[in-house]
Amino acid sequence: MKLNLKIWRQNDAKSKGKMVQYPLDGVDGDMSFLEMLDVLNEELINKGEEPVEFDHDCREGICGACSLQINGEPHGPDRKITTCQLHMRKFNDGDTIVIEPFRANAFPVIKDLMVDRSAFDRIQQAGGYISVNTSGNTVDANAIPIEKEKADDAFNAATCIGCGACVAACKNASAMLFTSAKVSQFALLPQGQVEATDRVLNMVRQMDLEGFGNCTNTGACEVECPKGISLENIARMNREYVSASVKG
Ligand code: SF4
Ligand code: FES
Repeated sequence: MKLNLKIWRQNDAKSKGKMVQYPLDGVDGDMSFLEMLDVLNEELINKGEEPVEFDHDCREGICGACSLQINGEPHGPDRKITTCQLHMRKFNDGDTIVIEPFRANAFPVIKDLMVDRSAFDRIQQAGGYISVNTSGNTVDANAIPIEKEKADDAFNAATCIGCGACVAACKNASAMLFTSAKVSQFALLPQGQVEATDRVLNMVRQMDLEGFGNCTNTGACEVECPKGISLENIARMNREYVSASVKG
Protein backbone atom coordinates (compact mmCIF):
# COMPACT_ATOMS: atom_id res chain seq x y z
CA MET A 1 0.00 0.00 0.00
CA LYS A 2 1.03 3.54 -0.70
CA LEU A 3 -0.28 6.10 1.77
CA ASN A 4 -0.34 9.84 2.13
CA LEU A 5 0.17 10.66 5.82
CA LYS A 6 -0.68 14.07 7.23
CA ILE A 7 0.92 14.26 10.64
CA TRP A 8 0.81 16.95 13.33
CA ARG A 9 4.34 18.19 14.17
CA GLN A 10 4.89 20.41 17.19
CA ASN A 11 8.12 21.01 19.10
CA ASP A 12 6.57 21.52 22.56
CA ALA A 13 3.47 22.80 24.34
CA LYS A 14 4.41 26.44 23.74
CA SER A 15 5.29 26.32 20.06
CA LYS A 16 2.80 26.43 17.22
CA GLY A 17 2.26 23.12 15.47
CA LYS A 18 1.42 22.30 11.86
CA MET A 19 0.39 19.42 9.65
CA VAL A 20 3.21 17.92 7.57
CA GLN A 21 2.65 15.51 4.65
CA TYR A 22 4.64 12.28 4.36
CA PRO A 23 4.13 9.87 1.46
CA LEU A 24 4.82 6.29 2.62
CA ASP A 25 5.23 3.28 0.33
CA GLY A 26 5.38 -0.45 1.06
CA VAL A 27 2.85 -0.54 3.91
CA ASP A 28 1.58 -4.08 4.56
CA GLY A 29 -2.03 -4.70 5.66
CA ASP A 30 -0.78 -6.94 8.49
CA MET A 31 1.25 -4.12 10.06
CA SER A 32 -0.22 -2.46 13.11
CA PHE A 33 -0.74 1.30 12.93
CA LEU A 34 2.25 1.84 15.23
CA GLU A 35 4.44 -0.45 13.11
CA MET A 36 3.50 1.68 10.10
CA LEU A 37 4.71 4.74 12.05
CA ASP A 38 7.91 2.83 12.96
CA VAL A 39 8.54 2.35 9.21
CA LEU A 40 8.02 6.05 8.59
CA ASN A 41 10.37 6.95 11.44
CA GLU A 42 13.09 4.64 10.12
CA GLU A 43 12.81 6.42 6.76
CA LEU A 44 13.00 9.83 8.45
CA ILE A 45 16.03 8.82 10.54
CA ASN A 46 17.80 7.43 7.44
CA LYS A 47 17.21 10.79 5.73
CA GLY A 48 18.61 12.65 8.74
CA GLU A 49 15.20 14.09 9.67
CA GLU A 50 13.59 14.12 13.11
CA PRO A 51 11.35 11.10 13.74
CA VAL A 52 7.71 11.63 14.74
CA GLU A 53 7.20 11.36 18.51
CA PHE A 54 4.28 9.17 19.56
CA ASP A 55 3.38 7.45 22.80
CA HIS A 56 3.31 3.66 23.20
CA ASP A 57 4.29 0.94 25.64
CA CYS A 58 2.57 -2.46 25.73
CA ARG A 59 1.38 -2.52 22.10
CA GLU A 60 -1.34 -4.98 23.10
CA GLY A 61 -4.23 -2.81 24.28
CA ILE A 62 -3.40 -2.84 27.99
CA CYS A 63 -1.43 0.25 29.00
CA GLY A 64 -3.46 3.02 27.33
CA ALA A 65 -0.36 4.90 26.16
CA CYS A 66 -1.04 4.97 22.42
CA SER A 67 -3.18 8.04 22.08
CA LEU A 68 -3.66 8.97 18.44
CA GLN A 69 -6.50 10.82 16.76
CA ILE A 70 -6.74 9.09 13.36
CA ASN A 71 -8.92 10.68 10.68
CA GLY A 72 -10.73 12.56 13.45
CA GLU A 73 -11.41 9.54 15.67
CA PRO A 74 -9.54 8.55 18.85
CA HIS A 75 -7.80 5.20 18.13
CA GLY A 76 -9.04 5.30 14.51
CA PRO A 77 -12.00 3.83 12.63
CA ASP A 78 -12.38 0.47 14.43
CA ARG A 79 -14.41 -0.03 17.63
CA LYS A 80 -13.27 -1.29 21.05
CA ILE A 81 -9.58 -1.35 20.17
CA THR A 82 -6.60 0.89 20.89
CA THR A 83 -4.33 2.40 18.23
CA CYS A 84 -1.73 -0.35 18.77
CA GLN A 85 -4.43 -2.95 17.95
CA LEU A 86 -5.47 -1.18 14.74
CA HIS A 87 -4.20 -2.87 11.57
CA MET A 88 -3.36 -1.24 8.27
CA ARG A 89 -5.77 -3.59 6.46
CA LYS A 90 -8.47 -1.18 7.66
CA PHE A 91 -7.10 1.31 5.10
CA ASN A 92 -6.84 1.24 1.31
CA ASP A 93 -4.01 1.84 -1.12
CA GLY A 94 -3.81 5.56 -1.88
CA ASP A 95 -5.60 6.64 1.31
CA THR A 96 -4.80 9.92 3.02
CA ILE A 97 -4.58 9.42 6.80
CA VAL A 98 -4.67 12.43 9.13
CA ILE A 99 -2.86 11.75 12.42
CA GLU A 100 -3.14 14.19 15.33
CA PRO A 101 -2.57 14.14 19.10
CA PHE A 102 -5.53 13.84 21.50
CA ARG A 103 -6.78 17.43 21.72
CA ALA A 104 -7.77 18.88 25.13
CA ASN A 105 -6.50 21.81 27.20
CA ALA A 106 -5.90 19.39 30.07
CA PHE A 107 -3.68 17.23 27.79
CA PRO A 108 -0.90 19.64 26.67
CA VAL A 109 1.26 18.46 23.76
CA ILE A 110 4.72 17.31 24.85
CA LYS A 111 5.94 16.83 21.28
CA ASP A 112 4.27 15.96 17.97
CA LEU A 113 1.67 13.26 18.75
CA MET A 114 2.58 12.79 22.42
CA VAL A 115 0.45 14.50 25.07
CA ASP A 116 0.80 14.86 28.83
CA ARG A 117 -2.01 12.86 30.49
CA SER A 118 -0.72 13.25 34.04
CA ALA A 119 -4.02 15.02 34.85
CA PHE A 120 -5.53 11.51 34.92
CA ASP A 121 -2.89 10.40 37.45
CA ARG A 122 -3.78 13.33 39.70
CA ILE A 123 -7.50 12.47 39.53
CA GLN A 124 -6.64 8.90 40.47
CA GLN A 125 -4.38 10.07 43.32
CA ALA A 126 -7.21 12.26 44.67
CA GLY A 127 -9.26 9.20 45.68
CA GLY A 128 -8.85 6.19 43.40
CA TYR A 129 -7.73 3.78 46.12
CA ILE A 130 -9.00 1.86 49.14
CA SER A 131 -7.49 1.45 52.60
CA VAL A 132 -6.70 -2.13 53.55
CA ASN A 133 -5.73 -3.28 57.02
CA THR A 134 -2.39 -5.05 56.69
CA SER A 135 -1.57 -5.13 60.40
CA GLY A 136 -1.70 -8.91 60.78
CA ASN A 137 -5.46 -9.51 60.78
CA THR A 138 -6.03 -9.02 57.06
CA VAL A 139 -9.26 -10.56 55.77
CA ASP A 140 -8.99 -12.65 52.64
CA ALA A 141 -10.74 -10.77 49.81
CA ASN A 142 -12.79 -13.81 48.84
CA ALA A 143 -14.23 -14.03 52.39
CA ILE A 144 -16.52 -11.07 51.67
CA PRO A 145 -19.53 -12.18 49.61
CA ILE A 146 -20.34 -9.87 46.66
CA GLU A 147 -23.33 -10.20 44.32
CA LYS A 148 -22.23 -11.47 40.91
CA GLU A 149 -23.87 -8.57 39.05
CA LYS A 150 -22.07 -5.99 41.20
CA ALA A 151 -18.75 -7.83 40.92
CA ASP A 152 -19.14 -7.89 37.13
CA ASP A 153 -20.01 -4.17 36.95
CA ALA A 154 -17.05 -3.28 39.20
CA PHE A 155 -14.75 -5.42 37.08
CA ASN A 156 -16.03 -3.83 33.86
CA ALA A 157 -15.41 -0.34 35.30
CA ALA A 158 -11.91 -1.43 36.34
CA THR A 159 -11.03 -2.30 32.74
CA CYS A 160 -10.58 1.42 31.97
CA ILE A 161 -6.97 1.81 30.83
CA GLY A 162 -6.80 5.60 31.23
CA CYS A 163 -6.12 6.16 27.54
CA GLY A 164 -7.96 9.49 27.30
CA ALA A 165 -9.97 8.63 24.17
CA CYS A 166 -13.15 9.65 26.01
CA VAL A 167 -11.74 13.14 26.52
CA ALA A 168 -10.53 13.40 22.92
CA ALA A 169 -13.94 12.26 21.59
CA CYS A 170 -15.93 14.73 23.70
CA LYS A 171 -16.75 18.16 22.28
CA ASN A 172 -16.36 19.51 25.84
CA ALA A 173 -13.15 17.54 26.55
CA SER A 174 -14.94 16.02 29.54
CA ALA A 175 -13.21 13.38 31.66
CA MET A 176 -16.47 12.13 33.20
CA LEU A 177 -16.27 8.63 31.67
CA PHE A 178 -12.74 8.06 32.96
CA THR A 179 -13.43 9.51 36.43
CA SER A 180 -16.74 7.68 36.77
CA ALA A 181 -15.08 4.36 35.88
CA LYS A 182 -12.48 4.96 38.60
CA VAL A 183 -15.19 5.92 41.11
CA SER A 184 -17.47 3.02 40.14
CA GLN A 185 -14.90 0.26 40.46
CA PHE A 186 -14.84 0.95 44.23
CA ALA A 187 -18.36 2.33 44.78
CA LEU A 188 -19.87 -1.03 43.82
CA LEU A 189 -17.83 -3.05 46.32
CA PRO A 190 -17.98 -3.28 50.13
CA GLN A 191 -14.21 -2.68 50.25
CA GLY A 192 -14.76 0.71 48.61
CA GLN A 193 -17.26 2.03 51.16
CA VAL A 194 -14.83 3.34 53.81
CA GLU A 195 -13.63 6.29 51.69
CA ALA A 196 -16.69 6.47 49.41
CA THR A 197 -17.80 9.98 50.40
CA ASP A 198 -14.37 11.61 50.21
CA ARG A 199 -13.45 9.65 47.09
CA VAL A 200 -16.16 10.97 44.80
CA LEU A 201 -15.93 14.55 46.12
CA ASN A 202 -12.13 14.67 45.81
CA MET A 203 -11.92 13.01 42.41
CA VAL A 204 -14.61 15.26 40.90
CA ARG A 205 -12.93 18.33 42.45
CA GLN A 206 -9.58 17.33 40.93
CA MET A 207 -11.22 16.64 37.56
CA ASP A 208 -12.61 20.19 37.53
CA LEU A 209 -9.29 21.69 38.71
CA GLU A 210 -7.48 20.03 35.80
CA GLY A 211 -9.66 21.95 33.34
CA PHE A 212 -11.75 19.16 31.83
CA GLY A 213 -15.16 20.21 30.50
CA ASN A 214 -18.63 19.17 31.62
CA CYS A 215 -20.63 16.21 30.36
CA THR A 216 -23.57 17.13 28.12
CA ASN A 217 -24.69 13.55 27.46
CA THR A 218 -23.69 13.29 23.80
CA GLY A 219 -22.28 9.81 24.41
CA ALA A 220 -19.29 10.14 22.05
CA CYS A 221 -17.02 8.94 24.88
CA GLU A 222 -18.82 5.59 25.17
CA VAL A 223 -18.68 5.06 21.39
CA GLU A 224 -14.93 5.69 21.18
CA CYS A 225 -13.88 3.98 24.42
CA PRO A 226 -11.66 0.99 23.53
CA LYS A 227 -12.83 -0.87 26.64
CA GLY A 228 -16.57 -0.27 26.22
CA ILE A 229 -16.89 1.64 29.50
CA SER A 230 -20.60 2.37 29.88
CA LEU A 231 -22.30 5.74 30.38
CA GLU A 232 -24.04 4.06 33.33
CA ASN A 233 -20.85 4.79 35.27
CA ILE A 234 -21.40 8.54 34.80
CA ALA A 235 -24.95 8.20 36.14
CA ARG A 236 -23.59 6.23 39.12
CA MET A 237 -20.90 8.84 39.80
CA ASN A 238 -23.53 11.61 39.71
CA ARG A 239 -25.66 9.70 42.24
CA GLU A 240 -22.59 9.10 44.44
CA TYR A 241 -21.67 12.78 44.18
CA VAL A 242 -25.14 14.05 45.18
CA SER A 243 -25.34 11.62 48.08
CA ALA A 244 -21.78 12.53 49.25
CA SER A 245 -22.59 16.27 49.00
CA VAL A 246 -25.65 15.83 51.24
CA LYS A 247 -23.58 13.88 53.80
CA GLY A 248 -21.03 16.70 53.62
S1 SF4 B 1 -13.11 5.43 29.95
FE1 SF4 B 1 -12.45 4.35 28.07
S2 SF4 B 1 -11.76 5.98 26.70
FE2 SF4 B 1 -11.81 6.84 28.78
S3 SF4 B 1 -9.77 6.57 29.62
FE3 SF4 B 1 -10.97 4.77 30.25
S4 SF4 B 1 -10.59 3.26 28.65
FE4 SF4 B 1 -9.93 5.22 27.78
S1 FES C 1 0.57 0.78 23.50
FE1 FES C 1 -0.43 0.03 25.30
S2 FES C 1 -2.54 0.19 24.82
FE2 FES C 1 -1.55 0.74 22.96
